[in-house]
Amino acid sequence: MTYQNPNIDRVAADLHERFNTLEHKADILKAVELKALYAEIPQLSAEERGAFGKELNGLRAELQQMVDAAGDQAEVLTPIDVTAPFDINTPVDKRPSLLPSQTGSRHPLMTELELVLDIFYRMGFTAVESREIDDDYHMFGSLNFPEGHPARDDYDTFMTTQTDKDGKPLIAPAHTSTMQNRVLRKYANNLEKGEPIAVLLPGRVFRNEDLDARHEHTFHQFEGVYVDKGIHAGNLLATFKTFLSEYYQQDIEIKSQPFYFPFTEPSFELALSCPFCQKKGCQICSQSGWIELLGMGMIHPNVLREGGVDPEVYTGFAWGCGLERLVMMKYGIEDIRHFESGKLDFLRQFA
Ligand code: DAH
Repeated sequence: MTYQNPNIDRVAADLHERFNTLEHKADILKAVELKALYAEIPQLSAEERGAFGKELNGLRAELQQMVDAAGDQAEVLTPIDVTAPFDINTPVDKRPSLLPSQTGSRHPLMTELELVLDIFYRMGFTAVESREIDDDYHMFGSLNFPEGHPARDDYDTFMTTQTDKDGKPLIAPAHTSTMQNRVLRKYANNLEKGEPIAVLLPGRVFRNEDLDARHEHTFHQFEGVYVDKGIHAGNLLATFKTFLSEYYQQDIEIKSQPFYFPFTEPSFELALSCPFCQKKGCQICSQSGWIELLGMGMIHPNVLREGGVDPEVYTGFAWGCGLERLVMMKYGIEDIRHFESGKLDFLRQFA
């Protein structure tokens, strides 16, 4: 649109140009040039005033229309139906894309998980994400938990009312060990080629916990599985110590003590020297200098056999490490519930 008055016409051209660059389109209505034109009106002669005012209102109406049209465009984006059933196995590029947000940022756990993955990639591991719904066989059966074994109760597992082909309830997995059988089967032919099975299994896990500063119903683990000829517990401890020292960028000491898991023999619990205070004693390590971090062990022969690997020929190790705990010790985070709380003042510290 062109305007008779050269001043109004020039401002109109400038504002059109600026409009395209504005993030908040309505700001164009507050442009100083527009205000300055309105401020000129009282100084005009009575004859000029009518035509000028009319043109200026015309410009204002034109800008208002542009703002309204831009708003309409924003509404054209299809909103995501959060109640629609969602198949968690949908490939990433087929998932609905989220609306862009100027203030959004990566969740700290995902940033840290990438650091963890990177360290293990450099050690020759590959990674497979665990599932968020699984079955009794992968949660227990394949891991040498016999039917009715009391150790099943240690896992405070959420069951669904839906059942699998054996009539057993589907579950929200309480550990990433659910993936062990799958990766043993998937990579068993590595062993025939003379290559190890070396896989990292990150994923989200769920437990019916009493919640407090150290316990959350939803958290993350990363499982490690390594199988080859002649693998022993020394390899396991050295691998994990190397990982911890890389992750915390300092020399970390470790201590292992005997433990029990049905799927490893022998089983250990691993403690590390406090990376937050370097063993001096602080709130994070309850003044002891050491923190119990995770369970690990040599993969039980029954678990290897169930995964199609001959335990007479091959041995391997595995661990299951909580991601939140690892990150809490790195940054001195005092309450695990911050991660799932959606509190912006917590999240923004990591943005
Ligand atoms: N699945 C165990 C848990 O969540 C952790 C674990 C212990 C995993 C020993 C392992 C392992 O792979 O070997 O408590």
